[in-house]
Amino acid sequence: MNKKYSLLLLLPLLSLSSCNFAASNNKNLHEIYKDYFTIGAAVNEYNVESELLSHYNSITCENDMKWISVHPSEDEYTFVKADEYVAKAKEKNMGIRGHALVWHHIQSIPADVFRGSDGNYLPKEVILQKEREHVDTVVKHFKDDVYCWDVVNEVIDDGQSPLKEDGSNIYRQSDWYLSTGRDFIKEAFIQADATLKELGIRDKVQLFYNDYDNTKEIKKSKTIAMLEWLIEEDVPIDGIGLQCHYHLGSFNVDELEQAIIDYSALGLDVQITEFDCEIYDRTLAEIPNYLYYDEVPQLALDLHATVYDRAFEVFRKHKDKISNVTFWGVADNITYMNDNPDYGYRTNYPYIFDVLEEKKPAFYVISEFED
Ligand code: GLA
Repeated sequence: MNKKYSLLLLLPLLSLSSCNFAASNNKNLHEIYKDYFTIGAAVNEYNVESELLSHYNSITCENDMKWISVHPSEDEYTFVKADEYVAKAKEKNMGIRGHALVWHHIQSIPADVFRGSDGNYLPKEVILQKEREHVDTVVKHFKDDVYCWDVVNEVIDDGQSPLKEDGSNIYRQSDWYLSTGRDFIKEAFIQADATLKELGIRDKVQLFYNDYDNTKEIKKSKTIAMLEWLIEEDVPIDGIGLQCHYHLGSFNVDELEQAIIDYSALGLDVQITEFDCEIYDRTLAEIPNYLYYDEVPQLALDLHATVYDRAFEVFRKHKDKISNVTFWGVADNITYMNDNPDYGYRTNYPYIFDVLEEKKPAFYVISEFED
């Protein structure tokens, strides 16, 4: 399939609901959204000094609060880097989303949390005790410098078989799950809650479950099954994070809206925690690679803007259910997607600011709207 034809396939998506490229105002994004929700961005050492941060009133550390960053080995905690972000955020009056206390990913947690020197899993209670100790130490360190925590990240199975009645296909077969069953999820929330209460700041810090693709029907039903179990067991959970990583072929506005409604109906606050959209349609047999930003066809930029436009229209409509929307990055000059095998080593342009930190069509459509 050639490039032109593949993009044409997406044309039906292209009708911007609030597109007015002519008159951009000079307000920062978070001011534009002050009556809706806070606006965040994930930051790292390369973009934390960007002047564009004035558009946001919340930040998330892309990596620097993850287990391996703050607790690289059993007896070692190091908060130097994370503390720098906290200081910067405070200086600029920005809130911080804490991300993430418990995650299975190999890049986020040392393997010896789970296994002894013989290579076998440690006893369940030993692992749960390490988890409690980690959660307690990290929550105590940041206190209410963070306004919420992704307490548990990405534990739901990605398989395409529908939720089984006995619940046997709900969970990702991670080291956490294989060594402790689903108890590690519950224990993380219970510990975070207990630590915050001990500090007397439970009302200042919200506790979230966070995942990707959890707006899709099958994964949503598994997620809801888990959330219902947690709620039934009186586990202290306040909210759900919808990561919302998209590409040009994956966005489904109805599914997004329904998920916000369904999760909110469980009594949970909803946050959009990692929003971005690749400039490619990954469903195509042949995906181009635009090495330079000026090679990106206008049509792709417009489709990209359409995804942002439609999504933000839904977010605004449901502002009573959503308290924060965070982008997983700031400008296209710095993105985790580049040089990344998970993203086909393509050069990507997922954000609202381009490689020169200039506003893209996606910026204009979400900042100029009439509700
Ligand atoms: C997940 C994690 C993030 C980040 C992204 C990168 O969404 O929650 O911290 O690592 O993956 O793909």
